[in-house]
Amino acid sequence: MTSRKGTAAILGAGVIGAGWAARFALMGWDVRIFDPAAAAPQIVEDAFARARASLPALYDVALPDMGTVSFHDTIAGAVSGAVWIQESAPERLDLKQSLYQQVQEHAALTAILASSTSGFTPSELQAGATRPEQIIVAHPFNPVYLLPLAELVGSDKTDPALLDRAADMLTGIGMSPLKVRGEIPAHIADRFLEAVWREALWLIKDGVATTAEIDDAIRMGFGLRWAQMGLFETYRIAGGNGGMAHFLHQFGPALQWPWTKLMDVPDLDDALVDMIASQSDAQSGARSIAQLEAARDGNLVAIMRGLKARGAGAGAVLSDHEATIAPPAPNPDLPTPPRTMFRQVPGTWVDYNGHMNESHYLTAFSEATDRILLWAGMDAACVDQGHSVFTVETHIRHIDEVNIGDTISVTTRVLQGGGKKLHLWHELRVGERLCATGEQLLLHVDLASRRSAAPRADVGAWFTRAQAAHAALPDPDGLGRHVGQRT
Ligand SMILES: NC(=O)c1ccc[n+]([C@@H]2O[C@H](COP(=O)([O-])OP(=O)(O)OC[C@H]3O[C@@H](n4cnc5c(N)ncnc54)[C@H](O)[C@@H]3O)[C@@H](O)[C@H]2O)c1
Repeated sequence: MTSRKGTAAILGAGVIGAGWAARFALMGWDVRIFDPAAAAPQIVEDAFARARASLPALYDVALPDMGTVSFHDTIAGAVSGAVWIQESAPERLDLKQSLYQQVQEHAALTAILASSTSGFTPSELQAGATRPEQIIVAHPFNPVYLLPLAELVGSDKTDPALLDRAADMLTGIGMSPLKVRGEIPAHIADRFLEAVWREALWLIKDGVATTAEIDDAIRMGFGLRWAQMGLFETYRIAGGNGGMAHFLHQFGPALQWPWTKLMDVPDLDDALVDMIASQSDAQSGARSIAQLEAARDGNLVAIMRGLKARGAGAGAVLSDHEATIAPPAPNPDLPTPPRTMFRQVPGTWVDYNGHMNESHYLTAFSEATDRILLWAGMDAACVDQGHSVFTVETHIRHIDEVNIGDTISVTTRVLQGGGKKLHLWHELRVGERLCATGEQLLLHVDLASRRSAAPRADVGAWFTRAQAAHAALPDPDGLGRHVGQRT
């Protein structure tokens, strides 16, 4: 059975291909993989384990149901029915070109054939192809399942409409496509990385810094600036109130000084390779690659969630994507309380006991309340008109443990609604297991006077209907309890 999202073929499932496979599948696409290496299934399994532990933790709603994943012995089998074909084979032009010839014998004419190539231009990839206009570059960043950027590049043979379609598809799996205006080797981002890389190699060769010191110089300073504002916005601030023009006038002349060795390439002879490798061993050799990957993914989730709360950088991409996959409003007349939250517990919600920290039960119930208010009509425009709610009382009962990686769901019953008071009863479960309840009393308020007030008519009507629909249910166990009371 195929999922409604579509089918993606992954050709080459190493570091990058496996990351693409995980992102597509976790976003609900069916994934068909071709890779001749015997090790490929294990690489894919490991990537999926890392992706499952991190990607859902970026979102405050559940991701779509995972698509199917299958391995195929032939290219024909893998590309059958695929609307997106992502090639992530080794960086060799002849290999990629001959792969495309085989792919185009079997692929749908409308399928997008995208290459992960770090360096080749679309024109180079398209040379000798049956349908060159079908081939584009979609260059991602490792780990593909977490980092949103994909550089999209076409050639003069590429229909702009195909690039638009490609951008829409990538946006649909939570990515941030960046259309590159022209074809250049290594696109945009790897140009920067090469400049930094060359400079770093010189600093080591000249004995100025070690691998660990260079990494500190990045992660303690400009790396943090770049992650949230990039290069130009950061330098604009550095120009003070004079802004960008002042900055350029002040620091421009320094570019003429011999600060960098950017135009020279250090000879990567055995001595330099040994020096860098032994410094890197001293810096990071105590941790396995798997441990480093887990640390990287956890850190990326924490940083990106921080940016999400502030609507900045990659965090803004997450919020926009989340809005497109959030569940639609249910019918308030249904007799069962609606599911107001469904998500995986992120690592940042877990405390020293290894289970969900108490503060995040309130986070979960608060988000559930916000969701039902949104469904009732209390959206940003409604709040702008001055209609909101203040919480006046919350009582949480902790009934069973919630652990890292558990998927929690919250259902919300409307005990009283329609007038000034909104009385809600939340139940938080892992599967069928009841883990916590949250009883909340909120007051609708007029934000101008900061006093209680009737809700906007449509919001009140929604809650009146929901209260009536839930009224026939028996009183929930624990309703009205206070601290220290015995059941
Ligand atoms: N590693 C990175 O950080 C990175 C980042 C962005 C883009 N890329 C690009 O992604 C591509 C893949 O790089 P990688 O790092 O994943 O390499 P990799 O060596 O980890 O994986 C390549 C995979 O391709 C498979 N393969 C070999 N011949 C094949 C064929 N004929 N058909 C299908 N699969 C075949 C190999 O078995 C291997 O599993 C390259 O073009 C690279 O430039 C890499």
